[in-house]
Amino acid sequence: MTAEPLSPKKAQPKKPCRPQAARRKRLLAHIGEGVAVIPAATEKMRNRDTPYPYRFDSDFWYLTAFPEPDAALVLADGRSILFCREKDAAKEVWEGFRYGPEAAKEVFGFDAAFPFSSLEAQLPQLLADRSALWHSLGQDAESDARIIRALNAVRGMCRTGKRPPARIHDVRQTLDAMRLIKDAAELVLMQEAADIAAAGHLRAMRACRPGKFEHELEAELIYEFRRRGAAGHAYAPIVAGGGNACVLHYVENDKRLPDAGLVLIDAGCEVRGYAADISRTFPVNGRFSAVQKDCYEIVLAAQAAAVAAIRPGAGFDAPHVAAARILTQGMVDLRLLSGTVDGLVESGAYQRFYMHRTGHWLGLDVHDAGDYKQGETWVPLAPGMTLTVEPGLYIRPAADVPEHLHNLGIRIEDDVVVTKRGCRVYTRAPKTVAEIEAAMQSGRAGAT
Ligand code: GLY
Ligand code: MN
Ligand code: MN
Repeated sequence: MTAEPLSPKKAQPKKPCRPQAARRKRLLAHIGEGVAVIPAATEKMRNRDTPYPYRFDSDFWYLTAFPEPDAALVLADGRSILFCREKDAAKEVWEGFRYGPEAAKEVFGFDAAFPFSSLEAQLPQLLADRSALWHSLGQDAESDARIIRALNAVRGMCRTGKRPPARIHDVRQTLDAMRLIKDAAELVLMQEAADIAAAGHLRAMRACRPGKFEHELEAELIYEFRRRGAAGHAYAPIVAGGGNACVLHYVENDKRLPDAGLVLIDAGCEVRGYAADISRTFPVNGRFSAVQKDCYEIVLAAQAAAVAAIRPGAGFDAPHVAAARILTQGMVDLRLLSGTVDGLVESGAYQRFYMHRTGHWLGLDVHDAGDYKQGETWVPLAPGMTLTVEPGLYIRPAADVPEHLHNLGIRIEDDVVVTKRGCRVYTRAPKTVAEIEAAMQSGRAGAT
């Protein structure tokens, strides 16, 4: 086959194809004659004059990739309009670069861009004579107040023939549905976040030794995340030694690891806004005891059953149902419960030792956007959805619980994308007993 010579047209450099522009186009088509207003997150103060590290609003980021606060996106008439901070040489000396409307329009591909300071004055005209306003009321008080002022301003124009939108829709519902199915660009970033998070878990496993503190393993995670360019944690990490793992949202991470116990790490990083969410549980001394291994294998089998239940058309709860059955059988085998698996699942008795669900949507938010149920029906899984699979077993000391099982807390969590035929687990950190022991051993070889 001979190569076709490039025509001058083909040889021209293409404008970068921005997934955000495609998403705005979809939303514009959905709102028709309406107008949508999507504000950026506001900066929040931590104390006095020190702000929390700024994190953009996920919806605003999904539609713009514009990283600055004091901004808003307005969609109307097939056009995307950005309002953002103006250039300010003096402020940039202290706070760093800001795009300004002109550069923002070019770089991010908006149809128009204006100073944020002009939004208040322009909003009434932008809302006037639109069939509907699409806005997420209740998300940001300042933005809500601005919208209400603008609506009242339009009402005041009635003698000029202008009318405010007759309907207000929650734009978040539409965006939630869009964000539920990830596009190719999102899946690339989620894979990157997953790879970095997995590297962090591997590093923590290899660094683990009896005598260390939970926070020392947390430090290994953050070192690996930042070293590889992730923004940091996607959520407060859990590094829970021994019985601390039975506190589901344990985040103190300040205790000494128990020599012969397990440690549960639930941690994931954020890459360009996208979260990874991985949990691993491993023995502090590098070798599972027989009891630890028995319990671990039950959770591992539950996870395998859950993953096998994920396919297009299956309900969101299918992995949970599958995992709960295996865990319940395990609880019977361990003499934690007695009765039939059917009966114990039906009555919910298993929830004493497995009290959370088996997963959640994952994306820009660690507990991502998207419905789980429509009425009484679980949302059917579809290709492009991303979710976690995270069964666990948490055994708190009690008089009726065999003592050798006290304080065992285990969770194994991976991230999956639903494919045409099933799903793909895209987080890859040591997971079987043999893989974990080998990884921990390799951390010791040659170490002092
Ligand atoms: N790390 C939060 C969760 O697993 O849901
Ligand atoms: Mn999770
Ligand atoms: Mn997690």
